Amino acid sequence: MKISVVGCGFLGAVYAAGMASLGHDVVGIDVDQDKLDRLTAGHSPFFEPGLDDLLIEAQNKGSLRFSADFPDTASSTMHFICVGTPQLDGSLAADVSYVNAAVQSLLPHLKPGDVVVGKSTVPVGTAARLAPMIVDAGADLIWNPEFLREGHAVKDTLNPDRLIYGVRDKEASAAAIQDLDEAYATMLDRGTVRLVMAYPTAELVKNSANSFLATKISFINAMAELCDASGADVTELADAIGIDDRIGRKFLNAGVGFGGGCLPKDVRALQAQARDLGVDSAVSLLNDIDHINQSQRSRLVALASRLCGGLEGKRLAVLGAAFKPNSDDVRDSPALDVAQQLQDAGAVVIVCDPHATTNASLRFPDLSYTDTLIDAVTDSDGMLLLTEWQEYRELDPAALRQLVHIPVMIDGRNVLDPTAWRTAGWTFGALGRP
Ligand code: UGA
Repeated sequence: MKISVVGCGFLGAVYAAGMASLGHDVVGIDVDQDKLDRLTAGHSPFFEPGLDDLLIEAQNKGSLRFSADFPDTASSTMHFICVGTPQLDGSLAADVSYVNAAVQSLLPHLKPGDVVVGKSTVPVGTAARLAPMIVDAGADLIWNPEFLREGHAVKDTLNPDRLIYGVRDKEASAAAIQDLDEAYATMLDRGTVRLVMAYPTAELVKNSANSFLATKISFINAMAELCDASGADVTELADAIGIDDRIGRKFLNAGVGFGGGCLPKDVRALQAQARDLGVDSAVSLLNDIDHINQSQRSRLVALASRLCGGLEGKRLAVLGAAFKPNSDDVRDSPALDVAQQLQDAGAVVIVCDPHATTNASLRFPDLSYTDTLIDAVTDSDGMLLLTEWQEYRELDPAALRQLVHIPVMIDGRNVLDPTAWRTAGWTFGALGRP
């Protein structure tokens, strides 16, 4: 099948390569020429394990190319919209202007029988608003939200948990549904669940899934505060409640909280949406979810101040800049927010990360960075582990003890063994652990 993918960011670049690897003939469209050049050379413009291999494999087969020209979509019969919907400045709502612009640019090139597939996370009502223009061109629109996680994007794209098709009408859209089934034949043949529903439900599935994940994280972080007040251990608590498969252990890792370009934005977008629909109180808990998440960051700064005997003039090493490991994405990164708060409180902060310091220095130019852990920790008066890269999880407390000035370790992700660190002579602290 000939496919165009509009928007080659975190979602679109992986999607374009993924669809090409499934045997389709794909053109990726983006306005950023530098990004297109890198993708054409087989290099992902961001750190995503496995993506370079997929790009090179698809390009070697001749099934993937990139272009800045919308007319290049004309030879495709299916068009995936993968542009971003960031939080609007000064509002909780998502900015759908890139989605609107993508559809406007596609319209002159649509042919009867084409299918436009919306993958971006959008507020309820977006698909119903865009569909008439697309239907007028003789094409159809399916909203097919994407659930891939950064850091696991290749695997998630090729092996999704489920496929959601939001349609205007199951009968009227039967041909478009069949075409999308053909595009996803490899996944459907493997037994991937596919659910067909109306546009508003499909749009809400994505926002509510992310908000539910955020709720789990903030719930366990609220429990961490109770653990701190009572002497309980939140990691043991999470293990114990997570055994119940109605609850599940995933997304119950307490610590500095969630960040990134999706969970924080979607929690807020759902609140904005409920307000627009006149049902604010239905999701008023999301305000608390966001509040708990933000307060984890200041709780960690307070813990650092307590364990280091104040922050003024203290040389602190922050391990991690990315919002999570296996990513160089620093959007709404808890690690960088904490680093900035520490610096604002008078500490001399140096941030290290194996992949994200370049992006971090663009967003937080006032912080100091190094790619090398040794540089960050040597002579430090305290360390904070804020992004749980594997190499930070495996740190040797005895060896590190020789490098630092004062041995204080604050585990903001609850991945280290407190006993091992304390035995090696460290003052050890974490949120929700005695
Ligand atoms: C999230 C969703 O998990 C994807 O399903 C969705 O497709 C994506 O957003 C999106 O909307 O595009 P992602 O932003 O890549 O994916 O990151 P997650 O793995 O969900 O992690 C989000 C944040 O929660 C990270 O900062 C992570 O460190 C934090 N987290 C996660 C915790 O603090 N505790 C946990 O137990 C799990």
